[in-house]
Amino acid sequence: MKYAIFSDVHGNAHALKLALEDARREGAEGFLFAGDYCISMPWANEALALIRSVPNAHIIRGNDENHLAVPSGDDGQFEVARWCARALTPENRAWLDALPHTLSLTLVGVPVHMAHSSEAFVSKALHARFRTSRLPFYYPDGPVPRDVLAADFRSFAATGELAAAIAALEPGVYIFGHNHIQTWGDFGGRILINPGSVGLPLDCGEPGAAYSLMTIENGAVTVEERRVPYDLECLIGKIRGSSQHASARVWTELIISELCTRREKVAQFLWCCEDYAHSIGDARRPFAKDTWQAALDEWERTARDRFPALFV
Ligand SMILES: [Fe+2]
Repeated sequence: MKYAIFSDVHGNAHALKLALEDARREGAEGFLFAGDYCISMPWANEALALIRSVPNAHIIRGNDENHLAVPSGDDGQFEVARWCARALTPENRAWLDALPHTLSLTLVGVPVHMAHSSEAFVSKALHARFRTSRLPFYYPDGPVPRDVLAADFRSFAATGELAAAIAALEPGVYIFGHNHIQTWGDFGGRILINPGSVGLPLDCGEPGAAYSLMTIENGAVTVEERRVPYDLECLIGKIRGSSQHASARVWTELIISELCTRREKVAQFLWCCEDYAHSIGDARRPFAKDTWQAALDEWERTARDRFPALFV
């Protein structure tokens, strides 16, 4: 039996549609969704319509589903979450709110556990290296080949704190997303699978929609990582023409930049924004619209020189 595993769609319904079509062509009959369906790109309702139409699906929520409850306000920082919360239909919002945080299943006789973040399984042990704000600095010279990333993940997970945390798990499959880094490994029957991000890969790798196929046969689990290419320039044109871009330009431009490089920029941007706000004596938090916009202007002028690893 073949299962398709998706995570971190982030409103990119176009990428999800293509990934679902690819999975069906590859013979997937079961579908697992590991959270973060909304916020960042402007097609959350369309993404949810696709997910809700999939038969034989197991679905959990991510941390961005919680961010939809952002308080009202006129700051710039959280405007993208408010835009998304306004855009979602009440029915979709209620459906998201009812999703479980974790699931434990038995699929073809194999125990399968799902959580949005690896922290549910191995605490923070993965974050020392496999964190999106750090990853670009490990691979500063250009796109990282899939086999290099896979080898780094498996050697990192085979030693130290993470190896001990994995060894403490019951044998089975552990599915998570959250860091947008597509990886997997079999560590003595504890099989960790991160399908990466359908809508916004941040693993310094290839463009396209990332997801993974898991085949369970006679108790054995095999994994295939997929990356479905699409016309990114066309998508970016549609994002820039959206009302989300008009309402939340700063966040949306950061996301577009991340789409182009598969390298996270939000963490460094927030640090720069803090520096900028401090330099002008602005103590307002969340960041006010004018400061938020001016910080992006400053970022676009200086970030390539300050953080070249984020732009290769
Ligand atoms: Fe995410």
